[in-house]
Amino acid sequence: MESIGILLVSYGSREVAMADAFINSDQYGVELYIIDRQNNPFNSKIAKEYAVVSDLDIEKICNFAKKFENRISFGIVGSEKPIIDGIRDLIEKETKIKMVCPTKECAIEGSKVAQRLLFQRIAPKVNPRFKVFNPISYGSSSELLNDIKDWISDLNGIENCVIKPDTPGFGKGVGVGGEHFNTFEQAYNHFLSIYGGEKNNCVIIEERIDGEESSYQGICDGRHLIHLPETRDYKRAYDNDEGPNTGGMGSYKAESGLLPFMSETERKNEIEIENEIFNSVIKEKGDGYRGFPFYDAIMHTGKGLKILERNSRPGDPEIINLLPILKDDFVEICLKIIEGNLSNIKIDKKSTVVTYVVPDIYPEKDNKMRRVHLEDAYKLKDECKDSMRIYTASIELRNGKTFALSSRTVAIVGIAESINSARKISIKGASSVKGKELRFRTDIASEQHIAKSISHMKRLRNSND
Ligand code: GLY
Repeated sequence: MESIGILLVSYGSREVAMADAFINSDQYGVELYIIDRQNNPFNSKIAKEYAVVSDLDIEKICNFAKKFENRISFGIVGSEKPIIDGIRDLIEKETKIKMVCPTKECAIEGSKVAQRLLFQRIAPKVNPRFKVFNPISYGSSSELLNDIKDWISDLNGIENCVIKPDTPGFGKGVGVGGEHFNTFEQAYNHFLSIYGGEKNNCVIIEERIDGEESSYQGICDGRHLIHLPETRDYKRAYDNDEGPNTGGMGSYKAESGLLPFMSETERKNEIEIENEIFNSVIKEKGDGYRGFPFYDAIMHTGKGLKILERNSRPGDPEIINLLPILKDDFVEICLKIIEGNLSNIKIDKKSTVVTYVVPDIYPEKDNKMRRVHLEDAYKLKDECKDSMRIYTASIELRNGKTFALSSRTVAIVGIAESINSARKISIKGASSVKGKELRFRTDIASEQHIAKSISHMKRLRNSND
């Protein structure tokens, strides 16, 4: 068996799932060189060389890569910060290691304004109605205030608008009318909180779209775009979609590759739109779009789709629904991405459900270290064989003990012939994670939740609005 060295820049479960896919390669004996945010028990155990770089600073990552340059064939990055900071540009300039991720220039998620303007140029139908406000271009704050009021009134009021910072996660982040603010004064305060002056001088106010959400993910070798099966993410913190937005509490994929609330025509239209956008951008930047540069949060309205936002990395947890059921070797896929000859990817026609176990306070943060025990979960996984996976995320290994930090703790994947069976496995796994002050959503991919999505979509398709 040929051996190969791979640099993996890890943030959480998404990259642990990548590491798992690599070490299960049938064709290569993989040696992993892993950089992590904290001492992740899975990664630190399997890595050939391992280092923690808590801020994922690209200079530090590049120094690590240089040390092992002669043993590493390629590198892969899952999370956005190093990609936006230009990790590919730096490592490819300083070493001979090729990176599976977009260049800084192609990391379009660095600016939500740039995304909206790009779509406006090449596929305006995917944009909700939006307006970009640049406060420094106004003569006075009352002019700005009046303009914002007029636009919110054009969008039919506070509950129909979304206020977004240009830079991801800036200030209070994305604010939704009727949830984060109810009055114009509150909306304006939200606007000010995400207006960072010199650092972040634009704010978008856009139409709030009613619909059902799905996640589109595409893999790209700089020449071809491979469409991955559709997945559904659960963003809210609590059951019944209550509570604040999170990074994602779980997700599912159906055996068909389509979601139960989507029609074949809707998926076909989505693929056509993704191809249209791709054909346009690839002409301009080509090889810059390597890896998983197109992960779109899509809102299906019943009358076509809107792209809520685009990311230049795989979804977390959405990619975890796919990596364990790849039929093709993940190392081979990455090599083809680098060579520019990835023409398709085979994925098992199975359902997968991911449930994230998280600290009680999540998505709030604290500095507590919560003892977490995974022994029962791993025992269950051994019993379940190929139908369960455990991917540790914001867990730190200290002196042989595992502690949950404040972000998502561990992702449990159920894999089966139907959504319902996959869900049962995922929930059983999540229940076997032991520790105080931990919780998980119990309704990821539940029949009831899916039925609600199906009837919502029917209503939207039949409405005259
Ligand atoms: N699941 C949401 C994200 O990856 O951004």
